[in-house]
Amino acid sequence: MKKFAAALVSLAFLQTATAFAQAPDAAAGKALWDSNNTFCKNCHGKAGEGAFGPDLAGRGLSAAQFQHAVRTPWGAMPTFVDTQVSDAELAQMAAWLGALPKVAEPGPWRVPVAADAPHGQQVYMSAGCAQCHGATFDQPRAMFGGRNGDFALMKALVYTHTATMPQVEPQRPGSRLRMGNFNPLRLSEGQLKEIFDWSHDEIGFRPALQAQFAATEGGSYALNVTNTGEAGKGLTAQKVTIDLVIPAGVTVTAATGDGYKGVHTDDQAKANVAEWQVARLAPKDTKAFTVILSQPPANPADLKGTIKWAKPAPKTGPSQDTVTFAVRPTGPGR
Ligand code: HEC
Ligand code: HEC
Repeated sequence: MKKFAAALVSLAFLQTATAFAQAPDAAAGKALWDSNNTFCKNCHGKAGEGAFGPDLAGRGLSAAQFQHAVRTPWGAMPTFVDTQVSDAELAQMAAWLGALPKVAEPGPWRVPVAADAPHGQQVYMSAGCAQCHGATFDQPRAMFGGRNGDFALMKALVYTHTATMPQVEPQRPGSRLRMGNFNPLRLSEGQLKEIFDWSHDEIGFRPALQAQFAATEGGSYALNVTNTGEAGKGLTAQKVTIDLVIPAGVTVTAATGDGYKGVHTDDQAKANVAEWQVARLAPKDTKAFTVILSQPPANPADLKGTIKWAKPAPKTGPSQDTVTFAVRPTGPGR
C-alpha cells in the first residue's frame, strides 16, 4: 500500500513536471509570428489587431481553437500544414496573442481593394492573395511569365501549394513555405480562373527579370540583369530601361555596358540618374553593367535603381512593372 502511494505521488510529480515542460512559450510564439517564416501577420495584423482576417489579440482563443482554425479553416483562410507551423508553435502563438490586450476596433486590410479595379483583380483581392502578393501579383506573374505557366499549374500551386511548390522550384533547405493550401470549396475553380485570366490576359504575365548589384573590390559597382525564364517558353522583355540613382554629392566617373545613355536629372526620382537602354532581354540573356563613382555614397543604401520595360504591357495602358535593385540580390516583390 505504501509502495502504491509513493508511486502515485511520483506520478503526480511527473505530471506536474511535464505540464511545466509543455507550458507554451509565448515569447517563441511572438518570435515566429514576427519572423519571415510565417505570414499570418499579413492577414491578422502585426500584433494580432486584425486586418483581412479577424483580430486575435486578447480574444483568449485556446491552442485547440488555433489548431482547428489553421488546419480546417472556416472560410477564406488557407490551410497551413504541420511543416509550416506545428501544433506546439500554434499553442505558443495562442499563448502570446491571448495575453495581449483586446483591440477596440480591428485594423484595416494591409492591401486595400480599389473600388474601380478590374473584376479579376477584385476577385484576387477578395480571396486574400493581395495581402501577401501586393495589388499586382508581381512574383507569381514573373514565375508564370518565365515558363508560360498554364491554369493547371496555377490550380496545383494554389490548391496543393505545399506539395507542388517544392517540385516547381527547389526551396532553400530548412526554409518554410509561407502560403497555405486554398480550399476549392471556398475559393472555387471558377474564381481562380478569373484570377488567372486577369493575370494572363489583362495585366499580363511579366518577364522573369532578376537583378544582382554589388560593390566590387576596385571601387566600382557591378549590375547584372538576367532573364531567368526558360528558353523557348519565357517572355522577352523589350525596350528595357535601367536607371541607377546617383546619390547627392557623388558623380559618375565611368560607366560600361551596352546602351549607356549617361546621367540626367530625373524629375520623378528628384535625383541624378545613370541610364542604360537595352532593346531586348530574352530568356537566358544576361547583361552586365558597371559604374565607377567619384566617391562611395555616404549611405550605401541610397545607391539603388529600377528596371522597367515597355513590353509586354497590360492590355490597356503602359507597363507599370518594375524590378528594383539595391546593393544585394533582388527580384520582383512577393
Ligand atoms: C489570407 C489571409 C489569412 C492568413 C494568411 C491567415 N489567416 Fe487566419 N484567418 C483568416 C480569416 C479570413 C479568418 C476567418 C475565418 C476564415 O475565413 O477561415 C481567419 C481565422 C483565424 C483564426 C480563428 C479566429 C476566431 O475568431 O476563431 C485563427 C486562430 C487564425 N486565423 C490563425 C491564423 C494563423 C496562426 C495563421 C498563420 C499560420 C493565419 N491565421 C493565417 C485569414 C488568414
Ligand atoms: C500568406 C501569404 C500568401 C497568401 C495569402 C497567398 N500567397 Fe501565394 N505565395 C506566397 C509565398 C510566400 C509564396 C512563395 C512560396 C511560399 O513561401 O509558400 C507564394 C507562391 C505563390 C505561387 C507560386 C509562384 C511564386 O511566385 O512562387 C502562386 C501561383 C501563388 N502564390 C498564387 C497565390 C494566389 C492565387 C493566392 C490567393 C488565392 C495566394 N497566392 C495567396 C504567399 C501567399
